[in-house]
Amino acid sequence: MNLLIYKTLEELNQDLADYVIKIAEMSIEENDRFNFVLTGGSSPKALYHLLATECEHRIDWEKVYFFFGDERNVPSDDENYNGLMAKKALLDPLGIKEDHIFYVNTSLAPEKAAIEYKKSIDQHFNGEDLTFDLILLGMGDDAHTASIFPHTDLVKDEEVGIASVFVEKLNTYRISFTAPLINKADNVAFLVFGENKAEALKHVIGDEEKNFDLYPSQLIDPIDGKLTWFTDEAATKLLEE
Ligand code: 6PG
Repeated sequence: MNLLIYKTLEELNQDLADYVIKIAEMSIEENDRFNFVLTGGSSPKALYHLLATECEHRIDWEKVYFFFGDERNVPSDDENYNGLMAKKALLDPLGIKEDHIFYVNTSLAPEKAAIEYKKSIDQHFNGEDLTFDLILLGMGDDAHTASIFPHTDLVKDEEVGIASVFVEKLNTYRISFTAPLINKADNVAFLVFGENKAEALKHVIGDEEKNFDLYPSQLIDPIDGKLTWFTDEAATKLLEE
């Protein structure tokens, strides 16, 4: 696990954009495509803007396929739909073709949406191992990641797949990658910054004894892949030296 701590968000996002491009270049070089899983939430907005502007000409974006690590159970034109945020900040500005974007079909009931999402991913991988080149993750101040929230069934889900989960504290369903699917990735990058994440991060990274039910982000431990944390001083201030 590689923990990167930045003084400013500008430096963090610049380095994270370079990291994404580097993995994209290697994946395209090796497999002629880059399977990239995006995170929702507010943290990645500046990164997506950088990728769509300063990085516009650094790789062949026509070889990139975009997925979502989780999605809210809202219509695709709802401002809380992770796909809409990415569409506005990244996908439309880069002119990404629809058949290169794997949105979660939230017009279906959550369980059906999860089944259909998994089918679309299976079809894309066409029998190959479901190993994404890069999965970008955020982390909530309750230590959830994707939609793997504390005290939910998803914490114990050992399936390599996509699940729907009812999140009591939000009183809503979510559709999400499971931790075993995330842990198959070649590269996983957490994007976590701000003082409000410090308490959760202290436990997720600092606790010797794991408590997945309380701190689900502790589940993320790639089997063969590399895990990198892109953080700032505020979010890591409670970590022991
Ligand atoms: C979502 C995300 C979620 C997010 C965290 C952090 O659908 O909300 O996928 O896991 O990454 O909640 O959100 P912020 O970046 O807004 O703090």
